Amino acid sequence: MKRGLGVCYYPEQWDESLWASDAARMAEIGLTWVRIGEFAWSRMEPQPDQYDWGWLDRAIATLGAQGLKVVLGTPTATPPRWMLDRHPDMLAVDAKGQTRGFGSRRHYDFSHLGYRAECAKIVTQLAVRYGKNPHICAWQTDNEYACHNTVHSYSPAARTAFQNWLAQRYQSIDALNRAWGNVFWSMEYASFDQVALPNLTVTEANPAHTLAFRRFASDEVVSFNKLQTDILRKHSTAPISHNYMGQVTDFDHFATGADLDIAAWDAYPIGFLSDRVQASPADKRHFLRQGDPDFQAFHHDLYRAVGRGRWWVMEQQPGPVNWAPWNPDPLPGMARLWAWEAFAHGAEAVCYFRWRQAPFAQEAMHAGLLRPDSAPAPAYAEAAQVARELAAMPDVARRQAKVALVFDYASDWAWATQPQGRDFSYFGLAFDMYRGLRRLGLDVDILPPDTADLSGYALVLAPAIATISAPLMAALTAFQGTALLGPRTNAKTAEFAIPVPLPPNLPGLDAVVARVESLPPDVSVPLQGGGAFHRWREKLEGTAEVVESTQDGLPALLRAGGLHYLCGWPDETALDRILTHLCQGADLPTHPMPHGLRRRRAGDVTFVFNYNPHPVAYDGHTIQAADVYWSRP
Ligand code: GAL
Repeated sequence: MKRGLGVCYYPEQWDESLWASDAARMAEIGLTWVRIGEFAWSRMEPQPDQYDWGWLDRAIATLGAQGLKVVLGTPTATPPRWMLDRHPDMLAVDAKGQTRGFGSRRHYDFSHLGYRAECAKIVTQLAVRYGKNPHICAWQTDNEYACHNTVHSYSPAARTAFQNWLAQRYQSIDALNRAWGNVFWSMEYASFDQVALPNLTVTEANPAHTLAFRRFASDEVVSFNKLQTDILRKHSTAPISHNYMGQVTDFDHFATGADLDIAAWDAYPIGFLSDRVQASPADKRHFLRQGDPDFQAFHHDLYRAVGRGRWWVMEQQPGPVNWAPWNPDPLPGMARLWAWEAFAHGAEAVCYFRWRQAPFAQEAMHAGLLRPDSAPAPAYAEAAQVARELAAMPDVARRQAKVALVFDYASDWAWATQPQGRDFSYFGLAFDMYRGLRRLGLDVDILPPDTADLSGYALVLAPAIATISAPLMAALTAFQGTALLGPRTNAKTAEFAIPVPLPPNLPGLDAVVARVESLPPDVSVPLQGGGAFHRWREKLEGTAEVVESTQDGLPALLRAGGLHYLCGWPDETALDRILTHLCQGADLPTHPMPHGLRRRRAGDVTFVFNYNPHPVAYDGHTIQAADVYWSRP
């Protein structure tokens, strides 16, 4: 597999006289990929049904003439203004019932059939025209599904589609009433067309209703994406990708991923640390210009799973972005380090966003590889350096990690629907566990929730899976290694009721969750071995072996053979100790890492990344701030 570096480019935003020199400079610094097209609908189809392909033909030819491989995006994230005259009701509606208007992007409703038909038309046009073009080496569908909170719409189109979805799933309204427990508060329905969307209720809607809506909304994204991939595949054999995001869980990426060839994601480490990563104020300051040392790696590993091995970074932060609460400048070296970290985790390509900073519109304050005056911005030289280093470095083999973390989008919806404690976040717990593994210097594979085979892994973590799938349950039963489940494992049926017999219902583990409690941020439950549970703890009854207890004398960690159940959300101290203990039991060597240093093995190469703003001595080497070090045995 040949790895490549690339860039996102918007020929329609620049005078045509610039294209040839832009393409020549891209090739000169060693870029091999260029993504174009994903927002250019108003130039592809300036008037309804009147297409203008001349400019795009020339842009592709200009880029191709420099040997650049083009990723062509379908433009469906930015329908032109005329589309609204044709389909005035195609706009999404927010949970407060307000229509989301024109004037930015993603102004569409996944359920609107008229808009879907327009998407099918423009994608067919693109696929027919460029499907066999030798320069088109990959596709991207739409752009960042879910961005700007666009998966959940409360429009009339969504309501009709939801009712149809419910009728398919439940077949009879009595079955729906029973499944949701609608006898509670006299919520029973007489027909599917009485079921509204779960917004604007007086107090919270029935969580089963909300969860059904979340499942439906995810399915809508999947079918919207499949509409496009089906068309592209009829006319092209180039691989199809979509660019996913960081910490976005509103739809099941494994389900969209099944219809795609490559999972790509958009990595903005400093923006993420500013606007979404949970970190202490001290760490937010310490990593201000570098980003969280685990957040990128988590998504690299997640999207490697979503792409069934094939994944890219489609957009890589090159300098300050415009959209986070604060937008610091990356430390010199970070634009290189981030790219190398992606390659170390198996990325096929990393594309910087974007080529030249636009002096106009919403992203005028967003850096590119070039400044608006076309002079190189700092990341330009770093990209060139990565390209030289890539060319000099032999390809490294991929291999299965020894540790796996199961990640389940549906559990994120379940616990977002009924968190029971304000700060209970499935993503947060899964990411905490991932961070704990990385502090021990371990490589991690992320696995989908229907994984049927765990062989080859020594340690498998599957926290807070609301309903364990039958294949995963069978795999856990057959698993010879060490597994860590809980808290909240199997705590809901598929219809979001509490199962009886009570959870967790795990093979061989004689224990039931008798009581749960959530805790405010300043309260925790100390463990006898050190550290504490915070946010969430469970009180379990039964005869299962107690490995660890809380200081108040209740089980904290239970065990049946290799299967362990964790009875709360551990803080960093508790988690590090418990993971170390499990690794010892599993004969798994650990490499505890200094603060801000992370390690990743790829084939026989060991990479070490220094996310610190200062040099660190490690393994006999001094690794400079924002630098990456690699070695072979
Ligand atoms: C991404 C998006 C790009 C651009 C970028 C700015 O979310 O896909 O189009 O807006 O952010 O950082």
